[in-house]
Amino acid sequence: MIPRFSFLFSLLCGWLASMSDAPAREGNFDESAVPPYTLPDPLKMEDGTAVTTAQQWTTQRRPELLRLFEEHVYGALPQADWTIQTELLETKEDALDGQAIRRRVRITLPAFPAFRGIEMLVYQPRTAPAAPVFLGLSFGGNHAVSTEPDLPISTAWMRPSKEKGVVENYATEASRGTESSRWPFAEMVARGYAVATAYCGDIEPDHADGWKDGIRGAVMGSDHVWQEGEWGCISAWAWGLSRMLDALNDVPGVDASRAAVVGHSRLGKTALWAGVTDERFGLVISNDSGEGGAALKYRDFGETPAIITRAFPHWFTKTYTRYGPNPQQCPVDQHELLALIAPRMLCVASATEDEWADPRGEFLAALAAEPVFVLLGKPGLEVTEMPAPDRSVGSWVRYHLRTGPHNITSWDWEQYSRAADALWKR
Ligand code: GCU
Repeated sequence: MIPRFSFLFSLLCGWLASMSDAPAREGNFDESAVPPYTLPDPLKMEDGTAVTTAQQWTTQRRPELLRLFEEHVYGALPQADWTIQTELLETKEDALDGQAIRRRVRITLPAFPAFRGIEMLVYQPRTAPAAPVFLGLSFGGNHAVSTEPDLPISTAWMRPSKEKGVVENYATEASRGTESSRWPFAEMVARGYAVATAYCGDIEPDHADGWKDGIRGAVMGSDHVWQEGEWGCISAWAWGLSRMLDALNDVPGVDASRAAVVGHSRLGKTALWAGVTDERFGLVISNDSGEGGAALKYRDFGETPAIITRAFPHWFTKTYTRYGPNPQQCPVDQHELLALIAPRMLCVASATEDEWADPRGEFLAALAAEPVFVLLGKPGLEVTEMPAPDRSVGSWVRYHLRTGPHNITSWDWEQYSRAADALWKR
């Protein structure tokens, strides 16, 4: 009787756990239990040579580090013809109750007709002749980031979410506006910025086999057998951000030479990798990106490489799974990813209740990237202690810790628009 009861009990627990969307709280959340670690020096070549000049960084160390991140973490894109074709689907002159122009632009790739294409949504000021632009991907599609009732509902595959109106993996009318609090378009437009976004699932659906229906499948063939070092989903999403930036060059009223890339959580990891791989982004913004994003992986706190590669192996190149048992064997840590953004501007943000993403690990990564920014003539974080919540520190490399849960809010966007004001002297 007893073994049977315990079997039933464990079934019940498993069922209850599977009903919850909350991440399993595996991992260390005790600051005093973080084991010691030594970070790799971003200013030391693999062969031990010290990097002492900006030229050495640009011509030797930066390419070396970029290759290491491709090989070990995110994977490299194949050589291909990435020329895009754009179609302006719509221009609405009086969007957001007359405050903005709205455009919808479809991006396809003539070399890969199997790729479904990206539908980009742009809100831009009505008066500015050439507005700087913030570019980012969404979790729920264009109809979810905006409350406007005349935006078509995305027909792409979505992760299940009852509260976001996704039924059997497809969005319904109930999902309209469900992500709008994360996208304060009217406020950004009032500050003089355009905002361009698209659904990440247009580029690649976010599940282990999603690559077959995304750009990776269209390019590699759906029977491809993945090898170490080849591109993972984050690389594919980052690639999509670059194609969106290509397309913005042709959007009237948008100044694509002043572009910021922004993302939250898994899409914050993506924004960082896009910012690293595409130097046209003058401002790179990581919001609560955590493990595989701005947080140090050598530091054992919150989510770890072992946990993330078990839950989301498709985000990374195959090689990354190897570092689950010992992250310190990975030859790079995430402060070096942040360093690869130098000398461009960087914002890193965390939230007090988001221990899963390791706020302190994100702050320490930004701090440890400082020597590279300084070598390239830019200030680093300019503080050494983690700031109190709700205060942005730094001028070129910026950091803030918002009070509250894992999310991106208007207050976060306000900090990012201030950074952009400083960068583009507005
Ligand atoms: C999970 C995952 C994180 C990720 C987050 C998100 O919690 O473990 O790494 O950042 O999802 O994207 O919302």
